[in-house]
Amino acid sequence: MPDISGNLSGVRESVIEKLKTLYDEEIGGSEFLPPDFAVRLAAFSAALNREIAVYVSRSGEVLNVSVGYVSNVQLDQLSLRRSDRRLSMVRCIHTHPGGSAELSDVDLTALKSLRLDAMCAIGVGGDGSVTGVSAAFLGEGMEPKLTPVLSLDRLPQEEWLEEIAQSDRLTPVGGSSDTAQRQERALLVSVDSERSLDELAALCDSAGAVVVGRSLQQKSKPDPVTYVGSGKAGELSLDAQALEADILVADDELSAAQTARLEELVGIPVVDRTTLILDIFARNAVTSEGKLQVELAQLNYRASHLKGQGQAMSRLLGGIGVRGPGESKLEMDRRHIRERIGQLKEELERMERQRGIRRKGRQRAGTPVVALVGYTNVGKSTLLNRLTGAEVLVKDQLFATLDAVNRRLELPDGDGFILVDTVGFINKLPTDLVEAFHSTLEEAALADILLIVSDASSPEMAAQRAVVEEVLDRLGANRQPRIEVLNKCDLARPEALQALPGAIAVSAADGTGLDELLAHIAKLLRERERMYRLLVPFADYALLSELRRQGRLLGEEHLEEGTLVSVMLDHAAFGRLEARLGKRLESMLRAAEGEP
Ligand code: GTP
Repeated sequence: MPDISGNLSGVRESVIEKLKTLYDEEIGGSEFLPPDFAVRLAAFSAALNREIAVYVSRSGEVLNVSVGYVSNVQLDQLSLRRSDRRLSMVRCIHTHPGGSAELSDVDLTALKSLRLDAMCAIGVGGDGSVTGVSAAFLGEGMEPKLTPVLSLDRLPQEEWLEEIAQSDRLTPVGGSSDTAQRQERALLVSVDSERSLDELAALCDSAGAVVVGRSLQQKSKPDPVTYVGSGKAGELSLDAQALEADILVADDELSAAQTARLEELVGIPVVDRTTLILDIFARNAVTSEGKLQVELAQLNYRASHLKGQGQAMSRLLGGIGVRGPGESKLEMDRRHIRERIGQLKEELERMERQRGIRRKGRQRAGTPVVALVGYTNVGKSTLLNRLTGAEVLVKDQLFATLDAVNRRLELPDGDGFILVDTVGFINKLPTDLVEAFHSTLEEAALADILLIVSDASSPEMAAQRAVVEEVLDRLGANRQPRIEVLNKCDLARPEALQALPGAIAVSAADGTGLDELLAHIAKLLRERERMYRLLVPFADYALLSELRRQGRLLGEEHLEEGTLVSVMLDHAAFGRLEARLGKRLESMLRAAEGEP
Protein backbone atom coordinates (compact mmCIF):
# COMPACT_ATOMS: atom_id res chain seq x y z
CA MET A 1 0.00 0.00 0.00
CA PRO A 2 1.36 3.50 -0.78
CA ASP A 3 2.60 5.64 2.08
CA ILE A 4 1.10 8.78 3.50
CA SER A 5 3.17 11.78 2.44
CA GLY A 6 3.60 15.24 3.90
CA ASN A 7 4.28 16.41 7.42
CA LEU A 8 3.80 13.42 9.72
CA SER A 9 5.82 14.67 12.67
CA GLY A 10 4.03 13.85 15.91
CA VAL A 11 1.39 11.70 14.15
CA ARG A 12 0.97 8.34 15.89
CA GLU A 13 1.67 5.19 13.88
CA SER A 14 -1.87 3.90 14.56
CA VAL A 15 -3.35 7.08 13.03
CA ILE A 16 -1.07 6.74 10.01
CA GLU A 17 -2.35 3.18 9.53
CA LYS A 18 -5.93 4.47 9.63
CA LEU A 19 -5.12 7.21 7.13
CA LYS A 20 -3.79 4.55 4.79
CA THR A 21 -7.28 3.02 4.58
CA LEU A 22 -8.23 6.11 2.54
CA TYR A 23 -6.41 4.44 -0.34
CA ASP A 24 -9.04 1.70 -0.27
CA GLU A 25 -11.87 4.13 -0.90
CA GLU A 26 -13.63 3.52 -4.20
CA ILE A 27 -14.81 6.88 -5.45
CA GLY A 28 -15.73 5.64 -8.89
CA GLY A 29 -16.04 7.69 -12.03
CA SER A 30 -19.61 8.90 -11.57
CA GLU A 31 -19.31 11.10 -8.48
CA PHE A 32 -17.06 14.11 -7.92
CA LEU A 33 -16.94 13.74 -4.11
CA PRO A 34 -18.99 11.03 -2.35
CA PRO A 35 -20.39 12.64 0.84
CA ASP A 36 -19.25 9.83 3.17
CA PHE A 37 -15.70 10.19 1.84
CA ALA A 38 -15.81 13.91 2.63
CA VAL A 39 -17.05 13.13 6.15
CA ARG A 40 -14.15 10.71 6.77
CA LEU A 41 -11.59 13.24 5.55
CA ALA A 42 -13.06 15.95 7.79
CA ALA A 43 -12.91 13.66 10.83
CA PHE A 44 -9.24 12.80 10.24
CA SER A 45 -8.41 16.44 9.65
CA ALA A 46 -10.09 17.58 12.88
CA ALA A 47 -8.35 14.85 14.89
CA LEU A 48 -4.92 15.89 13.54
CA ASN A 49 -5.78 19.59 13.28
CA ARG A 50 -3.95 19.64 9.94
CA GLU A 51 -4.91 19.83 6.29
CA ILE A 52 -5.35 16.52 4.52
CA ALA A 53 -5.11 16.40 0.74
CA VAL A 54 -6.21 13.51 -1.42
CA TYR A 55 -5.40 13.29 -5.11
CA VAL A 56 -7.97 11.39 -7.16
CA SER A 57 -7.64 10.15 -10.74
CA ARG A 58 -10.37 10.44 -13.37
CA SER A 59 -11.29 6.82 -12.81
CA GLY A 60 -11.86 7.54 -9.12
CA GLU A 61 -8.71 5.93 -7.75
CA VAL A 62 -7.02 7.57 -4.75
CA LEU A 63 -3.45 8.21 -5.93
CA ASN A 64 -2.00 9.99 -2.93
CA VAL A 65 -2.92 10.98 0.58
CA SER A 66 -0.87 13.66 2.24
CA VAL A 67 -0.92 15.55 5.47
CA GLY A 68 -0.15 19.28 5.45
CA TYR A 69 -0.06 22.07 2.98
CA VAL A 70 -1.49 21.15 -0.46
CA SER A 71 1.35 21.99 -2.78
CA ASN A 72 3.96 20.17 -0.74
CA VAL A 73 2.95 16.93 -2.37
CA GLN A 74 5.55 15.56 -4.74
CA LEU A 75 4.09 15.40 -8.21
CA ASP A 76 6.33 12.56 -9.19
CA GLN A 77 4.71 10.44 -6.51
CA LEU A 78 1.44 10.94 -8.32
CA SER A 79 2.97 10.07 -11.66
CA LEU A 80 1.04 13.03 -12.98
CA ARG A 81 1.04 13.49 -16.67
CA ARG A 82 3.44 16.40 -16.89
CA SER A 83 2.61 18.64 -19.73
CA ASP A 84 2.13 22.34 -20.00
CA ARG A 85 -0.65 21.89 -22.50
CA ARG A 86 -3.10 19.43 -21.00
CA LEU A 87 -4.79 18.78 -17.71
CA SER A 88 -3.08 16.39 -15.32
CA MET A 89 -6.23 14.20 -15.09
CA VAL A 90 -6.05 14.38 -11.30
CA ARG A 91 -8.21 16.38 -8.89
CA CYS A 92 -7.16 17.50 -5.44
CA ILE A 93 -9.68 17.26 -2.61
CA HIS A 94 -8.44 18.76 0.63
CA THR A 95 -9.62 19.97 4.00
CA HIS A 96 -9.48 23.38 5.67
CA PRO A 97 -9.47 22.69 9.42
CA GLY A 98 -10.24 26.37 10.18
CA GLY A 99 -13.88 25.93 9.12
CA SER A 100 -13.93 27.91 5.86
CA ALA A 101 -14.52 26.08 2.59
CA GLU A 102 -13.38 29.06 0.51
CA LEU A 103 -10.42 28.31 -1.74
CA SER A 104 -7.28 30.28 -0.95
CA ASP A 105 -4.91 31.94 -3.44
CA VAL A 106 -2.42 29.16 -2.77
CA ASP A 107 -5.08 26.59 -3.72
CA LEU A 108 -5.79 28.41 -6.97
CA THR A 109 -2.10 28.74 -7.80
CA ALA A 110 -1.67 25.00 -7.28
CA LEU A 111 -4.71 24.35 -9.53
CA LYS A 112 -3.08 26.35 -12.31
CA SER A 113 0.51 25.32 -11.94
CA LEU A 114 -0.25 21.62 -11.52
CA ARG A 115 -3.01 21.83 -14.16
CA LEU A 116 -5.32 19.87 -11.95
CA ASP A 117 -8.75 18.71 -13.11
CA ALA A 118 -10.19 20.50 -10.08
CA MET A 119 -9.24 21.89 -6.71
CA CYS A 120 -11.81 21.18 -4.04
CA ALA A 121 -11.88 22.41 -0.40
CA ILE A 122 -13.88 20.89 2.45
CA GLY A 123 -14.47 23.23 5.41
CA VAL A 124 -14.04 21.41 8.73
CA GLY A 125 -15.63 22.67 11.96
CA GLY A 126 -14.06 22.29 15.40
CA ASP A 127 -16.24 19.20 16.02
CA GLY A 128 -15.04 17.52 12.83
CA SER A 129 -18.23 18.27 10.87
CA VAL A 130 -18.22 19.41 7.24
CA THR A 131 -19.15 23.12 7.15
CA GLY A 132 -19.31 23.35 3.34
CA VAL A 133 -17.56 22.45 0.08
CA SER A 134 -16.34 24.54 -2.85
CA ALA A 135 -14.37 23.79 -5.99
CA ALA A 136 -12.53 25.51 -8.83
CA PHE A 137 -11.89 24.37 -12.39
CA LEU A 138 -9.66 25.74 -15.13
CA GLY A 139 -11.62 27.88 -17.57
CA GLU A 140 -10.88 30.03 -20.61
CA GLY A 141 -7.22 31.15 -20.73
CA MET A 142 -6.42 28.79 -17.85
CA GLU A 143 -8.17 31.14 -15.40
CA PRO A 144 -9.81 29.42 -12.38
CA LYS A 145 -13.62 29.25 -12.35
CA LEU A 146 -14.89 29.14 -8.76
CA THR A 147 -18.12 27.58 -7.52
CA PRO A 148 -19.97 29.01 -4.51
CA VAL A 149 -19.60 27.23 -1.15
CA LEU A 150 -22.31 24.55 -1.00
CA SER A 151 -23.50 22.22 1.69
CA LEU A 152 -22.34 18.64 1.38
CA ASP A 153 -25.80 17.22 0.64
CA ARG A 154 -26.30 19.71 -2.22
CA LEU A 155 -23.20 18.98 -4.27
CA PRO A 156 -23.97 18.93 -8.04
CA GLN A 157 -21.84 15.81 -8.57
CA GLU A 158 -22.50 15.32 -12.27
CA GLU A 159 -22.30 19.00 -13.06
CA TRP A 160 -18.83 19.21 -11.51
CA LEU A 161 -17.65 16.18 -13.46
CA GLU A 162 -18.98 17.91 -16.58
CA GLU A 163 -16.92 21.03 -15.63
CA ILE A 164 -13.78 18.88 -15.82
CA ALA A 165 -14.75 17.65 -19.28
CA GLN A 166 -15.26 21.27 -20.33
CA SER A 167 -11.83 22.37 -19.05
CA ASP A 168 -10.38 19.50 -21.00
CA ARG A 169 -11.91 20.89 -24.16
CA LEU A 170 -10.60 24.39 -23.42
CA THR A 171 -6.98 23.34 -22.93
CA PRO A 172 -5.46 22.59 -26.30
CA VAL A 173 -4.76 18.95 -26.83
CA GLY A 174 -1.32 18.46 -28.26
CA GLY A 175 0.69 15.30 -28.13
CA SER A 176 3.76 15.37 -25.94
CA SER A 177 5.81 14.54 -29.01
CA ASP A 178 6.13 18.24 -29.76
CA THR A 179 8.40 18.71 -26.75
CA ALA A 180 11.39 19.14 -29.04
CA GLN A 181 9.87 22.24 -30.60
CA ARG A 182 8.64 23.74 -27.39
CA GLN A 183 10.85 26.03 -25.38
CA GLU A 184 12.58 24.54 -22.39
CA ARG A 185 11.27 25.86 -19.09
CA ALA A 186 14.18 27.03 -16.98
CA LEU A 187 14.31 27.67 -13.24
CA LEU A 188 17.30 29.86 -12.35
CA VAL A 189 19.36 29.83 -9.20
CA SER A 190 22.24 32.07 -8.14
CA VAL A 191 24.38 32.51 -5.03
CA ASP A 192 25.59 35.88 -6.36
CA SER A 193 23.11 38.73 -6.90
CA GLU A 194 19.87 39.77 -8.58
CA ARG A 195 22.03 41.48 -11.19
CA SER A 196 23.77 38.24 -12.01
CA LEU A 197 20.38 36.50 -12.18
CA ASP A 198 19.19 39.14 -14.67
CA GLU A 199 22.14 38.32 -16.88
CA LEU A 200 21.54 34.60 -16.50
CA ALA A 201 17.93 35.20 -17.59
CA ALA A 202 19.19 37.07 -20.68
CA LEU A 203 21.55 34.17 -21.42
CA CYS A 204 18.63 31.71 -21.17
CA ASP A 205 16.68 33.87 -23.58
CA SER A 206 19.57 33.79 -26.05
CA ALA A 207 19.67 30.01 -25.65
CA GLY A 208 15.97 29.84 -26.55
CA ALA A 209 14.69 28.79 -23.12
CA VAL A 210 11.89 30.45 -21.19
CA VAL A 211 12.54 31.46 -17.60
CA VAL A 212 9.71 30.25 -15.34
CA GLY A 213 11.27 31.08 -11.98
CA ARG A 214 14.35 32.55 -10.32
CA SER A 215 15.84 32.06 -6.92
CA LEU A 216 18.68 33.78 -5.07
CA GLN A 217 20.57 32.54 -2.04
CA GLN A 218 23.40 34.96 -1.37
CA LYS A 219 26.46 33.12 -0.08
CA SER A 220 30.07 34.21 0.21
CA LYS A 221 30.96 31.12 -1.82
CA PRO A 222 28.94 28.26 -3.32
CA ASP A 223 28.46 25.10 -1.28
CA PRO A 224 31.20 22.66 -2.39
CA VAL A 225 28.75 19.75 -2.50
CA THR A 226 25.32 21.09 -3.42
CA TYR A 227 26.09 24.61 -4.76
CA VAL A 228 23.16 26.05 -2.72
CA GLY A 229 22.38 24.95 0.85
CA SER A 230 20.50 21.67 1.09
CA GLY A 231 17.40 23.42 2.50
CA LYS A 232 17.36 25.69 -0.56
CA ALA A 233 17.75 22.64 -2.80
CA GLY A 234 14.57 21.22 -1.20
CA GLU A 235 12.70 24.46 -1.95
CA LEU A 236 13.97 24.38 -5.52
CA SER A 237 12.60 20.86 -5.89
CA LEU A 238 9.11 22.06 -4.94
CA ASP A 239 9.43 25.15 -7.16
CA ALA A 240 10.59 22.99 -10.05
CA GLN A 241 7.45 20.90 -9.75
CA ALA A 242 5.00 23.72 -9.22
CA LEU A 243 6.47 25.64 -12.16
CA GLU A 244 6.92 22.54 -14.31
CA ALA A 245 10.53 23.46 -14.92
CA ASP A 246 12.48 21.22 -17.31
CA ILE A 247 15.93 22.36 -16.19
CA LEU A 248 17.60 24.11 -13.30
CA VAL A 249 20.18 26.65 -14.45
CA ALA A 250 22.95 27.47 -11.96
CA ASP A 251 24.71 30.82 -12.20
CA ASP A 252 28.27 29.45 -11.84
CA GLU A 253 30.44 26.74 -13.28
CA LEU A 254 29.70 23.58 -11.27
CA SER A 255 31.92 20.60 -10.60
CA ALA A 256 30.81 17.19 -11.83
CA ALA A 257 29.97 16.20 -8.25
CA GLN A 258 27.95 19.36 -7.57
CA THR A 259 25.90 18.84 -10.73
CA ALA A 260 25.14 15.23 -9.87
CA ARG A 261 24.19 15.98 -6.26
CA LEU A 262 22.01 18.96 -7.17
CA GLU A 263 20.21 16.92 -9.83
CA GLU A 264 19.54 14.27 -7.23
CA LEU A 265 18.10 16.78 -4.77
CA VAL A 266 16.05 18.86 -7.19
CA GLY A 267 14.94 16.03 -9.44
CA ILE A 268 15.47 17.77 -12.79
CA PRO A 269 18.57 18.15 -15.01
CA VAL A 270 20.98 20.86 -13.93
CA VAL A 271 22.73 23.08 -16.49
CA ASP A 272 25.52 25.36 -15.31
CA ARG A 273 26.45 28.80 -16.60
CA THR A 274 29.37 27.53 -18.65
CA THR A 275 27.24 24.90 -20.41
CA LEU A 276 24.63 27.58 -21.12
CA ILE A 277 27.19 29.93 -22.68
CA LEU A 278 28.72 27.10 -24.71
CA ASP A 279 25.22 26.25 -25.89
CA ILE A 280 24.62 29.80 -27.12
CA PHE A 281 27.93 29.69 -28.94
CA ALA A 282 26.92 26.36 -30.49
CA ARG A 283 23.69 27.93 -31.74
CA ASN A 284 25.37 31.01 -33.14
CA ALA A 285 28.56 29.71 -34.72
CA VAL A 286 28.43 30.29 -38.46
CA THR A 287 31.86 29.91 -40.02
CA SER A 288 33.62 26.58 -40.05
CA GLU A 289 36.34 27.96 -37.80
CA GLY A 290 33.76 29.21 -35.31
CA LYS A 291 32.03 25.84 -35.29
CA LEU A 292 35.30 23.99 -34.69
CA GLN A 293 36.21 26.38 -31.90
CA VAL A 294 32.88 25.82 -30.15
CA GLU A 295 33.12 22.08 -30.56
CA LEU A 296 36.58 22.13 -29.05
CA ALA A 297 35.40 24.19 -26.09
CA GLN A 298 32.38 21.90 -25.56
CA LEU A 299 34.45 18.75 -25.72
CA ASN A 300 37.08 20.11 -23.36
CA TYR A 301 34.37 21.00 -20.91
CA ARG A 302 32.58 17.69 -21.25
CA ALA A 303 35.78 15.72 -20.88
CA SER A 304 36.39 17.38 -17.53
CA HIS A 305 32.76 16.87 -16.43
CA LEU A 306 32.10 13.43 -17.87
CA LYS A 307 31.03 11.88 -14.60
CA GLY A 308 28.62 14.64 -13.75
CA GLN A 309 26.64 14.60 -16.93
CA GLY A 310 23.84 12.79 -15.12
CA GLN A 311 20.36 13.55 -16.28
CA ALA A 312 21.35 16.56 -18.31
CA MET A 313 23.03 14.30 -20.79
CA SER A 314 20.31 11.68 -20.86
CA ARG A 315 17.68 14.03 -22.17
CA LEU A 316 16.72 12.52 -25.45
CA LEU A 317 15.00 15.42 -27.08
CA GLY A 318 17.88 17.85 -26.99
CA GLY A 319 17.95 21.22 -25.28
CA ILE A 320 20.52 23.31 -23.48
CA GLY A 321 23.76 21.47 -23.00
CA VAL A 322 22.93 18.68 -25.40
CA ARG A 323 22.94 20.67 -28.58
CA GLY A 324 25.65 21.90 -30.87
CA PRO A 325 28.26 20.66 -33.23
CA GLY A 326 29.39 18.11 -30.66
CA GLU A 327 26.01 16.71 -29.73
CA SER A 328 26.08 13.55 -31.81
CA LYS A 329 29.24 12.58 -29.92
CA LEU A 330 27.63 12.41 -26.53
CA GLU A 331 28.17 8.72 -26.23
CA MET A 332 31.86 9.02 -26.79
CA ASP A 333 34.02 8.01 -23.94
CA ARG A 334 36.97 9.99 -22.75
CA ARG A 335 39.36 8.35 -25.20
CA HIS A 336 37.24 9.23 -28.21
CA ILE A 337 36.77 12.73 -26.94
CA ARG A 338 40.52 13.14 -26.59
CA GLU A 339 41.06 11.89 -30.14
CA ARG A 340 38.50 14.33 -31.46
CA ILE A 341 40.05 17.15 -29.45
CA GLY A 342 43.40 16.33 -31.06
CA GLN A 343 41.89 16.45 -34.56
CA LEU A 344 40.11 19.72 -33.86
CA LYS A 345 43.26 21.32 -32.53
CA GLU A 346 45.18 20.31 -35.65
CA GLU A 347 42.47 21.64 -37.92
CA LEU A 348 42.28 24.90 -35.99
CA GLU A 349 46.05 25.30 -36.02
CA ARG A 350 45.97 24.95 -39.80
CA MET A 351 43.35 27.69 -40.00
CA GLU A 352 45.30 29.82 -37.56
CA ARG A 353 48.40 29.55 -39.73
CA GLN A 354 46.36 30.82 -42.66
CA ARG A 355 45.02 33.61 -40.55
CA GLY A 356 48.59 34.44 -39.52
CA ILE A 357 49.59 34.61 -43.18
CA ARG A 358 46.71 36.95 -43.91
CA ARG A 359 47.67 39.10 -40.94
CA LYS A 360 51.29 39.32 -42.11
CA GLY A 361 50.05 40.31 -45.53
CA ARG A 362 48.08 43.13 -44.00
CA GLN A 363 51.05 44.28 -41.94
CA ARG A 364 53.22 44.37 -45.04
CA ALA A 365 50.59 46.31 -46.89
CA GLY A 366 50.62 48.65 -43.92
CA THR A 367 46.88 48.34 -43.29
CA PRO A 368 46.24 49.05 -39.64
CA VAL A 369 43.67 47.07 -37.69
CA VAL A 370 41.12 48.62 -35.37
CA ALA A 371 39.24 46.15 -33.16
CA LEU A 372 35.82 46.59 -31.58
CA VAL A 373 35.80 44.99 -28.17
CA GLY A 374 33.26 45.14 -25.37
CA TYR A 375 30.70 43.34 -23.30
CA THR A 376 28.10 41.32 -25.14
CA ASN A 377 25.09 43.27 -26.48
CA VAL A 378 26.66 46.72 -26.16
CA GLY A 379 26.17 47.30 -29.88
CA LYS A 380 29.51 46.39 -31.48
CA SER A 381 27.96 44.78 -34.56
CA THR A 382 25.54 47.67 -35.00
CA LEU A 383 28.48 50.08 -34.85
CA LEU A 384 30.44 48.05 -37.41
CA ASN A 385 27.41 47.98 -39.70
CA ARG A 386 26.84 51.69 -39.32
CA LEU A 387 30.47 52.54 -40.02
CA THR A 388 31.04 50.16 -42.91
CA GLY A 389 27.64 49.26 -44.32
CA ALA A 390 28.38 45.58 -43.61
CA GLU A 391 25.47 43.29 -42.96
CA VAL A 392 26.50 41.72 -39.69
CA LEU A 393 23.80 39.99 -37.68
CA VAL A 394 22.42 42.35 -35.05
CA LYS A 395 20.11 40.97 -32.43
CA ASP A 396 19.05 42.07 -29.00
CA GLN A 397 20.56 38.90 -27.63
CA LEU A 398 23.77 37.94 -25.95
CA PHE A 399 26.48 36.68 -28.29
CA ALA A 400 24.57 37.25 -31.50
CA THR A 401 27.87 37.57 -33.39
CA LEU A 402 30.45 34.98 -32.74
CA ASP A 403 32.86 34.89 -35.59
CA ALA A 404 35.31 37.72 -36.01
CA VAL A 405 34.19 39.92 -38.88
CA ASN A 406 36.68 42.09 -40.79
CA ARG A 407 35.69 45.05 -42.93
CA ARG A 408 37.84 47.63 -44.70
CA LEU A 409 37.09 51.29 -44.13
CA GLU A 410 38.46 54.28 -46.03
CA LEU A 411 39.05 57.53 -44.16
CA PRO A 412 38.50 60.93 -45.83
CA ASP A 413 42.29 61.60 -45.83
CA GLY A 414 42.75 58.56 -48.05
CA ASP A 415 44.06 56.22 -45.36
CA GLY A 416 42.23 53.00 -44.72
CA PHE A 417 42.00 50.54 -41.88
CA ILE A 418 40.45 47.20 -41.13
CA LEU A 419 37.69 47.19 -38.57
CA VAL A 420 37.31 43.88 -36.72
CA ASP A 421 34.21 42.93 -34.73
CA THR A 422 35.03 40.39 -32.04
CA VAL A 423 32.99 38.09 -29.89
CA GLY A 424 31.40 39.85 -26.91
CA PHE A 425 32.84 39.41 -23.46
CA ILE A 426 30.83 38.41 -20.42
CA ASN A 427 31.29 37.99 -16.70
CA LYS A 428 32.63 34.54 -15.85
CA LEU A 429 33.52 33.90 -19.51
CA PRO A 430 34.33 30.19 -19.55
CA THR A 431 38.07 29.50 -19.67
CA ASP A 432 37.55 26.76 -22.25
CA LEU A 433 35.96 29.32 -24.55
CA VAL A 434 38.70 31.89 -24.16
CA GLU A 435 41.20 29.19 -25.01
CA ALA A 436 39.26 27.85 -27.97
CA PHE A 437 38.66 31.35 -29.31
CA HIS A 438 42.17 32.46 -28.61
CA SER A 439 43.10 32.93 -32.24
CA THR A 440 39.95 34.97 -32.92
CA LEU A 441 40.42 37.05 -29.80
CA GLU A 442 44.06 37.44 -30.73
CA GLU A 443 42.88 39.61 -33.61
CA ALA A 444 41.83 42.02 -30.91
CA ALA A 445 44.95 41.55 -28.87
CA LEU A 446 47.16 42.36 -31.88
CA ALA A 447 45.08 45.24 -33.21
CA ASP A 448 46.73 48.63 -33.62
CA ILE A 449 43.88 50.44 -31.88
CA LEU A 450 41.17 49.14 -29.57
CA LEU A 451 37.70 50.65 -29.65
CA ILE A 452 36.33 49.69 -26.25
CA VAL A 453 32.58 49.94 -26.59
CA SER A 454 30.30 50.31 -23.55
CA ASP A 455 26.52 50.48 -23.35
CA ALA A 456 25.92 53.85 -21.69
CA SER A 457 22.23 53.04 -21.22
CA SER A 458 22.97 50.03 -19.02
CA PRO A 459 22.98 50.44 -15.24
CA GLU A 460 25.69 47.78 -15.25
CA MET A 461 28.06 49.78 -17.43
CA ALA A 462 30.87 50.11 -14.86
CA ALA A 463 30.78 46.43 -13.87
CA GLN A 464 30.72 45.36 -17.53
CA ARG A 465 33.62 47.67 -18.35
CA ALA A 466 35.61 46.06 -15.50
CA VAL A 467 34.99 42.58 -16.94
CA VAL A 468 36.21 43.77 -20.35
CA GLU A 469 39.43 45.01 -18.76
CA GLU A 470 39.92 41.64 -17.09
CA VAL A 471 39.50 39.74 -20.36
CA LEU A 472 41.79 42.15 -22.23
CA ASP A 473 44.37 41.56 -19.54
CA ARG A 474 44.01 37.80 -19.96
CA LEU A 475 44.59 38.27 -23.69
CA GLY A 476 47.57 40.54 -23.15
CA ALA A 477 45.80 43.32 -25.07
CA ASN A 478 46.92 46.27 -23.00
CA ARG A 479 49.62 47.99 -24.95
CA GLN A 480 47.93 49.58 -27.92
CA PRO A 481 46.15 52.95 -27.91
CA ARG A 482 42.48 52.80 -26.94
CA ILE A 483 39.38 54.79 -27.64
CA GLU A 484 36.57 54.53 -25.12
CA VAL A 485 33.21 54.58 -26.88
CA LEU A 486 29.95 55.16 -25.02
CA ASN A 487 27.31 53.71 -27.30
CA LYS A 488 23.50 53.96 -27.09
CA CYS A 489 23.80 57.62 -26.06
CA ASP A 490 20.29 58.06 -27.49
CA LEU A 491 19.02 56.04 -24.52
CA ALA A 492 21.54 57.03 -21.85
CA ARG A 493 21.10 59.49 -18.99
CA PRO A 494 23.40 62.55 -19.34
CA GLU A 495 25.38 61.59 -16.17
CA ALA A 496 26.26 58.24 -17.73
CA LEU A 497 27.94 60.04 -20.61
CA GLN A 498 30.32 61.74 -18.16
CA ALA A 499 31.30 58.46 -16.50
CA LEU A 500 34.42 57.74 -18.55
CA PRO A 501 36.68 60.77 -19.06
CA GLY A 502 37.77 61.26 -22.63
CA ALA A 503 35.18 58.82 -23.98
CA ILE A 504 33.33 59.55 -27.20
CA ALA A 505 29.54 59.35 -26.95
CA VAL A 506 27.93 57.78 -29.99
CA SER A 507 24.70 56.18 -31.06
CA ALA A 508 25.14 53.41 -33.57
CA ALA A 509 21.36 53.52 -33.95
CA ASP A 510 21.00 57.14 -35.12
CA GLY A 511 24.59 57.94 -36.16
CA THR A 512 25.33 60.54 -33.45
CA GLY A 513 29.04 61.01 -32.74
CA LEU A 514 30.30 58.76 -35.53
CA ASP A 515 32.14 61.55 -37.36
CA GLU A 516 33.94 62.46 -34.15
CA LEU A 517 34.81 58.80 -33.64
CA LEU A 518 36.22 58.43 -37.14
CA ALA A 519 38.21 61.64 -36.74
CA HIS A 520 39.68 60.32 -33.52
CA ILE A 521 40.60 57.00 -35.13
CA ALA A 522 42.26 58.89 -38.01
CA LYS A 523 44.24 61.01 -35.54
CA LEU A 524 45.48 58.00 -33.59
CA LEU A 525 46.40 56.21 -36.78
CA ARG A 526 48.43 59.20 -37.82
CA GLU A 527 50.18 59.41 -34.48
CA ARG A 528 50.73 55.71 -34.30
CA GLU A 529 54.28 54.51 -34.51
CA ARG A 530 54.97 51.59 -36.76
CA MET A 531 58.04 49.49 -37.28
CA TYR A 532 59.65 49.79 -40.71
CA ARG A 533 62.52 47.80 -42.11
CA LEU A 534 64.68 49.54 -44.67
CA LEU A 535 67.78 48.47 -46.51
CA VAL A 536 69.79 51.70 -46.66
CA PRO A 537 72.59 51.71 -49.24
CA PHE A 538 75.99 52.59 -47.75
CA ALA A 539 76.15 55.70 -49.87
CA ASP A 540 73.08 57.05 -48.06
CA TYR A 541 74.68 57.29 -44.61
CA ALA A 542 73.08 60.71 -44.09
CA LEU A 543 69.71 58.97 -44.10
CA LEU A 544 70.79 56.81 -41.15
CA SER A 545 71.35 59.83 -38.93
CA GLU A 546 68.04 61.30 -40.08
CA LEU A 547 66.23 58.07 -39.14
CA ARG A 548 67.83 58.27 -35.71
CA ARG A 549 66.51 61.80 -35.30
CA GLN A 550 62.99 61.17 -36.63
CA GLY A 551 62.27 57.82 -35.00
CA ARG A 552 63.56 55.14 -32.68
CA LEU A 553 66.17 52.85 -34.14
CA LEU A 554 65.57 49.27 -33.00
CA GLY A 555 68.43 47.58 -34.79
CA GLU A 556 71.08 47.87 -37.48
CA GLU A 557 72.68 45.04 -39.37
CA HIS A 558 75.47 45.55 -41.86
CA LEU A 559 74.97 43.45 -44.97
CA GLU A 560 76.80 43.37 -48.28
CA GLU A 561 74.23 45.60 -49.97
CA GLY A 562 73.94 48.14 -47.19
CA THR A 563 72.58 48.59 -43.66
CA LEU A 564 69.37 46.77 -42.71
CA VAL A 565 67.57 49.09 -40.30
CA SER A 566 64.56 48.44 -38.07
CA VAL A 567 63.03 51.72 -37.03
CA MET A 568 59.83 52.91 -35.32
CA LEU A 569 58.34 55.90 -37.12
CA ASP A 570 55.10 57.74 -36.58
CA HIS A 571 52.85 58.70 -39.43
CA ALA A 572 54.17 62.25 -39.70
CA ALA A 573 57.83 61.22 -39.75
CA PHE A 574 57.12 58.59 -42.36
CA GLY A 575 55.28 61.23 -44.43
CA ARG A 576 58.31 63.54 -44.32
CA LEU A 577 60.61 60.77 -45.45
CA GLU A 578 58.24 59.80 -48.21
CA ALA A 579 58.08 63.40 -49.44
CA ARG A 580 61.84 63.68 -49.51
CA LEU A 581 62.80 60.28 -50.89
CA GLY A 582 59.88 59.43 -53.19
CA LYS A 583 60.38 56.13 -55.05
CA ARG A 584 63.74 55.49 -53.36
CA LEU A 585 61.99 54.88 -50.03
CA GLU A 586 59.77 52.25 -51.61
CA SER A 587 62.71 50.38 -53.07
CA MET A 588 64.55 50.46 -49.71
CA LEU A 589 61.43 48.95 -48.04
CA ARG A 590 61.20 46.26 -50.72
CA ALA A 591 64.89 45.47 -50.54
CA ALA A 592 64.62 44.92 -46.78
CA GLU A 593 62.07 42.14 -47.47
CA GLY A 594 64.48 40.60 -49.99
CA GLU A 595 62.30 41.65 -52.91
CA PRO A 596 63.70 43.09 -56.12
P1 GTP B 1 27.24 40.52 -29.22
O1 GTP B 1 27.15 39.92 -30.58
O2 GTP B 1 26.43 39.78 -28.21
O3 GTP B 1 28.62 40.75 -28.75
O4 GTP B 1 26.45 41.95 -29.27
P2 GTP B 1 26.92 43.32 -29.91
O5 GTP B 1 27.75 44.08 -28.94
O6 GTP B 1 27.47 43.10 -31.28
O7 GTP B 1 25.50 44.10 -29.97
P3 GTP B 1 24.54 44.29 -31.23
O8 GTP B 1 25.16 45.18 -32.25
O9 GTP B 1 24.05 42.96 -31.66
O10 GTP B 1 23.38 45.16 -30.55
C1 GTP B 1 22.62 44.71 -29.45
C2 GTP B 1 21.30 45.44 -29.41
O11 GTP B 1 21.49 46.82 -29.10
C3 GTP B 1 20.53 45.41 -30.72
O12 GTP B 1 19.17 45.24 -30.42
C4 GTP B 1 20.80 46.77 -31.31
O13 GTP B 1 19.75 47.18 -32.17
C5 GTP B 1 20.87 47.63 -30.08
N1 GTP B 1 21.70 48.84 -30.28
C6 GTP B 1 22.97 48.88 -30.72
N2 GTP B 1 23.42 50.16 -30.75
C7 GTP B 1 22.42 50.95 -30.30
C8 GTP B 1 22.28 52.36 -30.09
O14 GTP B 1 23.16 53.18 -30.31
N3 GTP B 1 21.08 52.79 -29.59
C9 GTP B 1 20.07 51.94 -29.33
N4 GTP B 1 18.95 52.46 -28.87
N5 GTP B 1 20.17 50.61 -29.53
C10 GTP B 1 21.32 50.11 -30.00
